[in-house]
Amino acid sequence: MDNLDQLVISATADFAAATEPARLEDAKARYLGKDGSLTALLKGLGKLPAEERKSAGAAINVAKERIESALTARRDALKNTQLEAQLAAEALDVTLPGRGISRGGLHPVIKSLDRVEQLFRSIGFEVADGPEIETDWHNFTALNTPENHPARSMHDTFYLQGPSEHGGKVEEDVLLRTHTSPVQVRAMLDHVERHKHLETMPELRVICPGRVYRVDSDATHSPMFHQVEGLWIGENVSFADLKGVVADFLRRFFESDDLKVRFRPSFFPFTEPSAEIDVAFMSGSLEGRWLEIAGCGMVHPNVLRFGGFDPEKYTGFAFGMGPDRLTMLRYGINDLRLFFEGDLRFLSQFN
Ligand code: PHE
Repeated sequence: MDNLDQLVISATADFAAATEPARLEDAKARYLGKDGSLTALLKGLGKLPAEERKSAGAAINVAKERIESALTARRDALKNTQLEAQLAAEALDVTLPGRGISRGGLHPVIKSLDRVEQLFRSIGFEVADGPEIETDWHNFTALNTPENHPARSMHDTFYLQGPSEHGGKVEEDVLLRTHTSPVQVRAMLDHVERHKHLETMPELRVICPGRVYRVDSDATHSPMFHQVEGLWIGENVSFADLKGVVADFLRRFFESDDLKVRFRPSFFPFTEPSAEIDVAFMSGSLEGRWLEIAGCGMVHPNVLRFGGFDPEKYTGFAFGMGPDRLTMLRYGINDLRLFFEGDLRFLSQFN
């Protein structure tokens, strides 16, 4: 039957034209659905004379099977294309080089602090810690810097109000500590508390590394920076000991004997006499230039007293240096702010 062949050809063409499953099902309905053209032919069989009905029915069924198998073939084909598209989209290129896991590292200033701690531990110093939000008393008063003392103006900082940690007052002035010296006050009080039953206390040897804060910001000053302070109190501790300890430390820190150290008279309220410590390298790009790296002096009798030591019996020295500055010198860095910008291109060079 010609029109049946026609129907099969047009169904097959319609199926081929359907590029997605939903369109294919629409096309199927046009031929095999309730109102489909093939279904209509089947329904029309009843009107045929009985002798034609059988052969016409057989021919229609053959056409129906051909349309159905064209439909199944098209369904499979569409499913395959879909799968291929999905596989292509989700493809992994297993030949690409791996991304790797990048390793973190220590900040250059922390590396310096570790080094400082290690060197001082090797000569019998302990490492002490204290709060960054400090009381006015520990930060200034106990360090012989009473209220309205002119030296306070060089340590302008951020003042806060908070609950008291020291003494009985409910509210006490607290501030972001301007140096790590208050940790020395705490270390002294703690040492005396632990050894007050002894006639002569053992020596106190401590360093205090940490963050400190001041209202300062330029290429060589940042509002937050690091300090490490040292304190040695005993019965016969002298300025000569201070010079020996500091000079030896600096030579070991910079791994160089080619280093000059000088003590230049200065003033700090908490030490008497006081000095600034300068170093000069005898080779390299900084050759011959004196660079200030620390303050130091003999602990002032008032400070010893505030810390619970009898200044008639004990003497001590203290020094405070900037590990940021030490790190800049060690690695030849010219801008302090690089340390605090968190730029990995800079930081990763140290690991
Ligand atoms: N604390 C002093 C400062 O920050 C440094 C210092 C420490 C000086 C100990 C002398 C002795 O300026």
